[in-house]
Amino acid sequence: MKGIILAGGSATRLRPCTKITSKQLLPVYNKPMIYYPLNTLIKAGITDILIIIAPEYAGQFLNLLGSGKEFGIKLTYEVQETTKGLADAFIVGNHFIGDDDVTMILGDNIFEDDLSGEIKNFKSGAKVFAKKVSDPERFGVVRFDENMRANKIIEKPKKWISDYALTGLYVFDKRVVEVAKNVKPSKRGEIEIVDLHNWYLDREELDVAMVDGSWLDAGTFDSLLEAQVLAKEKLQDKMVI
Ligand code: DAU
Repeated sequence: MKGIILAGGSATRLRPCTKITSKQLLPVYNKPMIYYPLNTLIKAGITDILIIIAPEYAGQFLNLLGSGKEFGIKLTYEVQETTKGLADAFIVGNHFIGDDDVTMILGDNIFEDDLSGEIKNFKSGAKVFAKKVSDPERFGVVRFDENMRANKIIEKPKKWISDYALTGLYVFDKRVVEVAKNVKPSKRGEIEIVDLHNWYLDREELDVAMVDGSWLDAGTFDSLLEAQVLAKEKLQDKMVI
């Protein structure tokens, strides 16, 4: 199993803090934000990790994390020239993934739960992680049938379909690279990760695991503040780096 952290983007919602650095390098209590998704991957036993970054701040990530040796892992870096969508990570990471399965986590996603069991027991197809939220319209959303089997996934639905948001943690088998290459850009001009989910869902190869503890996408000042509190109060003894 390989790992990808998607840490590009321009984070305009966090200006002026992101005017001179990347969102994923901002402090979340006592660690740079990217340490949290790194912990999620390392705890799952993933030691070969690709970090996808925007060109402007590539040097800062390298200065901070280097080869990964300090953490007992191997880090590789790829630059994403423009923000083409989350599914683009599998095209940028094409050669890195090779013939392996891959777990991707967004660089601003912070989880309280230890999800390593769910990542380690992945066999094939795709696995996504859902969490009940009060504002599903902000996320990719999954709807379930009466047997709690996923039957529909939509990115930021305008009309309510379910309260279950898809978090920014995904496990795919190697077919994801070819699937991503065939995805057409959406109306907002991005190749959407939900199109990958739906490809696996259509083939009954998509598994949805539930997240019980807190989950934050620290992309706004309010969620960043919440992340600081979560990190201070609940994550200190759970960090491996
Ligand atoms: O956090 C979970 C949500 O993340 C999911 O529920 C959605 O299905 C998924 O699309 C995503 O929604 P966001 O609105 O949070 O996506 P955003 O465009 O903000 O990108 C998420 C992170 O990925 C962000 O930190 C920047 C980075 N990114 C994004 C794009 C589109 C890249 O590095 N490259 C990209 O091309």
